[in-house]
Amino acid sequence: MSQRETWATRVGFIIAAVGSAVGLGNVWQFPFQTGANGGAAFIVVYLAAVFVIGFPAMLAEFVIGRRAERNPIDAFARLGHRDWRVVGAIGTISAFWILSFYSVVGGWVIRYIVGSATGAYFSGSEAYFGAISAGPEAIGLHALFMALTVGVVAFGVTDGIERSTKLMVPSIVVLLGGLAIWAATLDGGGAGYAYYLSPDIDTLVANIGSILPAAVGQAFFTLSLGMGAMLTYASYLGRDDSLPADGATIVVLNTFVGLLAGLVVFPILFSLGIDPGSGGLGAAFITLAGAFAQLPAGRLLGVVFFVVLLLAALSSAISLLEVVTAYLVDNTDRSRSTLAVGLGAAIFVLGVPSAFGLSILAWYNAIAYNLLLPLSVFCLLIFVGWVDAADAVTELRRGTGLSEGGATAWLWFVRTVVPLGVLVTLLLGLQSLAVRAGLIAEAIV
Ligand code: PHE
Repeated sequence: MSQRETWATRVGFIIAAVGSAVGLGNVWQFPFQTGANGGAAFIVVYLAAVFVIGFPAMLAEFVIGRRAERNPIDAFARLGHRDWRVVGAIGTISAFWILSFYSVVGGWVIRYIVGSATGAYFSGSEAYFGAISAGPEAIGLHALFMALTVGVVAFGVTDGIERSTKLMVPSIVVLLGGLAIWAATLDGGGAGYAYYLSPDIDTLVANIGSILPAAVGQAFFTLSLGMGAMLTYASYLGRDDSLPADGATIVVLNTFVGLLAGLVVFPILFSLGIDPGSGGLGAAFITLAGAFAQLPAGRLLGVVFFVVLLLAALSSAISLLEVVTAYLVDNTDRSRSTLAVGLGAAIFVLGVPSAFGLSILAWYNAIAYNLLLPLSVFCLLIFVGWVDAADAVTELRRGTGLSEGGATAWLWFVRTVVPLGVLVTLLLGLQSLAVRAGLIAEAIV
């Protein structure tokens, strides 16, 4: 086997991981989740979930990846626990599965860049969404988005992923920042800031049962946890920089971009009197596109916004494809580019049904969100916290000034609070899957 690749620089790793984390989850899903869950009250719980549950869990993926220097499946074997390879397999399958429909949504985004430029959706954003979100056109653009993803991954860790994310991530921040400044000039947008930034404690207390699982689920998804993506990226470290410091940087930057997206979306919606709580998979496209249609310079704004969304989606999609590609690169003699193309084609095929109808896509999403992700994170935490604890603590401290006490505090989080939070999310997720499948009547829930 040839020499395994590593990141060229520490910053390269951090930016690639931020690129993975910043995705449709931040720019598209987060503002609308916030809207559907009571505004700022949701954000309070979400921030707590990100830092208390998400951050320690990210470090758990990092310690396995960096120590094993292998893809998620073989990593467990390399650490001397062959039976646990099944956990890596769940993560790898999740990556494969999620990319299949993430790419369909990526295809919509490409369509919306063009639609903004030509004003195609200006006369009726709902009808437009209906027309482009399913059917042959959606399948074609799904193929295009997948081809772009393959194009990056085929070039490898440094020449493909590191180099491209170094361009994409700063562009996302600059363009989104520009949009936020522009949004601040809108008449009537002030109500959006209030809704977004001042939490209503009564709302929080009254709805904690639904806010909590939504916030924890969102935290995992946005931090790219549970799919082996962070584990895989850490496996290319080959250096002993501080994992907690790098992880904290990634978490903070990712949170910043999510909040920034809210500073764009909420003033726009409020200035036009649109309710941000009208959730649902397509709603963000319909409501936001509808808003662009009414604003001065809406075409330009639409193009910039959807370009941001495309860059965010692409820099995440490559991390998902890399998880699966890494497994085959580590285990076969075929070239990385051949493997990436083959896998891209297979994932494309898996995603095609979800390009036939929103209800199918919603199913794909629900299986990932409610079952695969929490299950995979939960098993990984048990492994790090209880099976491999001593080595994990040593690995976490490597390259840091972290005291034994600090590392032990992390360990106990990984052993208790974090898996408990995930378990609750998993159970509630299974319940909602059962409701979706009609196994439990809605009334009971
Ligand atoms: N974090 C990405 C987002 O917010 C989604 C993602 C999850 C990407 C897992 C890679 C791995 O959209």
